[in-house]
Amino acid sequence: EKGGYDHFMLKEIYEQPDAITDTYRGRMLVDEGIIRMAGVDDNIERIANAKRIIIVACGTSWHAGLVSEYIFEDLARIPVEVEYASEFRYRNPVIYENDVVIAISQSGETADTMAAIKLAKEKGAFVFGVCNVVGSSISRETNAGAYTHAGPEIGVASTKAFTTQITVLTLIALKLAKYRGTISDSDFRYHLQELDRIPAKISKVLEENEHVKIIAEKYKDAPNCLYLGRGYNFPVALEGALKLKEISYIHAEGYPAAEMKHGPIALIDEQMPVVVIATRKGHYEKVVSNVQEIKSRKGKIIGIVTEGDEAVRELADYVIEVPETMESLTPLLTTIPLQLLSYHIAVMLGKNVDQPRNLAKSVTVE
Ligand code: M6R
Repeated sequence: EKGGYDHFMLKEIYEQPDAITDTYRGRMLVDEGIIRMAGVDDNIERIANAKRIIIVACGTSWHAGLVSEYIFEDLARIPVEVEYASEFRYRNPVIYENDVVIAISQSGETADTMAAIKLAKEKGAFVFGVCNVVGSSISRETNAGAYTHAGPEIGVASTKAFTTQITVLTLIALKLAKYRGTISDSDFRYHLQELDRIPAKISKVLEENEHVKIIAEKYKDAPNCLYLGRGYNFPVALEGALKLKEISYIHAEGYPAAEMKHGPIALIDEQMPVVVIATRKGHYEKVVSNVQEIKSRKGKIIGIVTEGDEAVRELADYVIEVPETMESLTPLLTTIPLQLLSYHIAVMLGKNVDQPRNLAKSVTVE
């Protein structure tokens, strides 16, 4: 059932090229320059004219929400708020009838996310669901939705659910941008072409597996680890840190790279591995100077860089290359080595990768 892999998590990491293809197959018609999604098409006016989008989710799904905040604002020019479902439901939030709430949940059973949806519906908002499990409670409670079609995710650590959620949300953002006229035709088509190239590029990143293993061996005994990124890759830093904590039990923190100087930089010494996402299109020069700051404090640097990178390579202890793509799609590539890194560290430490202690695959209690 694990298809020759030692763990479900590794199998699911390797399934991502196919899972993402399944997510956009039949929806994205690259040659025609069309995206079809019934749940969006049937409600396009309501969704595209939203004054605001509120995203509610937990854990990794919340991170996918954060990535999509950048995409929605950038492409469709709709203001977005991303909320932890558990905070949103209990803090008497301001919800308008012309708000659209997007709930993201792999399992479709998360109690806090479900409660947030019910609250939003009571206040008259339109609720759209992005779920993986077909027929799940959340998919039934929402006004409309789109499935991720990632296939069953068994490992407690979410991997392919995350990248397929980002894929679905990117398709929705592109559709809204087209309808609202905030994207040019040629840009729209270019996005579709680039998204279509992502599965092959992920396969290429997966070829770095042995190299990632060497890095895992080197840092597996570190008690702490920092993850830094900017822009689209700031949520990827959060996700990388969550993945490491949850399966290897190593304490890890994700930060926007520029926030380091407001506190976390005090943690850096020669023991501290710092994973920095420094792809060429995402505020590259700024990230390079953040890397220099870490270097001068003797931190150990693992750079996630674009193929052919020189500046970070010179400063870093290790780099992992990902192929070039447009900035908004980089999270789909930069996430992969972080999944592999936490996987290998957890295996080397003898942890129960697929069923980490104290955690359940779906959190049906608040
Ligand atoms: O099923 P959901 O997407 O609603 O689950 C939300 C979180 O419980 C989940 O993403 C959790 O954080 C994962 N174990 C992270 O890998």
